[in-house]
Amino acid sequence: MNQQPLDTKPLYQKTVWVQDLLKTTDFTVDISSEPFIIENIRQHKTTEGSPFIRLEITDKTGKIPARIWNEDFPSCNIHEIKEGDIVLIWGNLTQFRERRYIRVTKLKIIAEDNVNIGELTNTALQADLDTLWTKLTQIIASIKNPYIRQLLNNLFSDPKIANAFKTTAAAEMVHHDYIGGLLDHTLEMIDIAEVILKHYPQADRDIVVAGIILHDIGKILEYETKRTVVKRTKQGYLLGHIYLGLELINKYLPAGFPEEYKLQLFHVVLAHHGELEYGSPVRPATIEAIIVSAVDDISSKVKQFQKELQTKQPDSQGFGEYHKFIRTRVYFSHLARQKHKENSQDTASSNTIELTLNAESD
Ligand SMILES: [Fe+2]
Ligand SMILES: [Fe+2]
Repeated sequence: MNQQPLDTKPLYQKTVWVQDLLKTTDFTVDISSEPFIIENIRQHKTTEGSPFIRLEITDKTGKIPARIWNEDFPSCNIHEIKEGDIVLIWGNLTQFRERRYIRVTKLKIIAEDNVNIGELTNTALQADLDTLWTKLTQIIASIKNPYIRQLLNNLFSDPKIANAFKTTAAAEMVHHDYIGGLLDHTLEMIDIAEVILKHYPQADRDIVVAGIILHDIGKILEYETKRTVVKRTKQGYLLGHIYLGLELINKYLPAGFPEEYKLQLFHVVLAHHGELEYGSPVRPATIEAIIVSAVDDISSKVKQFQKELQTKQPDSQGFGEYHKFIRTRVYFSHLARQKHKENSQDTASSNTIELTLNAESD
């Protein structure tokens, strides 16, 4: 990633942010030579058969849909734009059936050197990646079983694996779908599991912790990440991360690795999706496997709620739009509580005024 020299400003700086475009009621906002990253491109046709392009564009504050209509194709480089490109966009904010999008009237691909990349991608997390990585290495060092510790050290002493594990997302768009998402998801799971483990002394901490570190390691081959864009690879589509992970682990098993530990660790990885219909070939049969599967479920599901609350806006009743993965509409309870608090404060202060007025008139 190119860095801007300290004393020079990038040519193009952001003035309009996605998070504001998603909230504003001012549809006259001017979008002119505004930098974004192209996250998604799809060709479509209107019901009348006229071609148009559906995009998703991002900056570090979020993602917003955009459209290029047929008549704007000549000014939009439509044959050259690719997912992951940094572009300047001209256009206006518009709405169709309560769904807002940017109508792009002009688009230009630009080089990364011309923008402050920190305005377009979430570099806060990238800056934290080294800290997260140190935490992971400390956790590996805390594993008592020398074979399991050696297996993890073998894997992560390969710089290709270490680098991929540090930067891969944990999903395309469901949970932890950002650079470093896999590492973040893994550490979050270990934190939760450490609390759970205190209650279940029968569970082997080494198997649980190593199982968590390894459960999604196949995602380093299942996904590739380019800037903020996470895509599934061909082997990801055809083989999936559970198989890819096991194949990788198998390659790095140290000599003499005890068969019983191998069975148990492999079982944790194979069973972590919990149910056959969720992609696991076997259901959890050990206490360690059920802990890892349950913690994976917590980390992935709660994260989706958190993301919804952070990035979406509720309707007038306080509900977000239907979420196909959560399978309901999330209720923004914290906003409702805040509103309730403000209302009761308003009522309390208007009561005070009323009482004062009554007292004066008496
Ligand atoms: Fe998984
Ligand atoms: Fe996971």
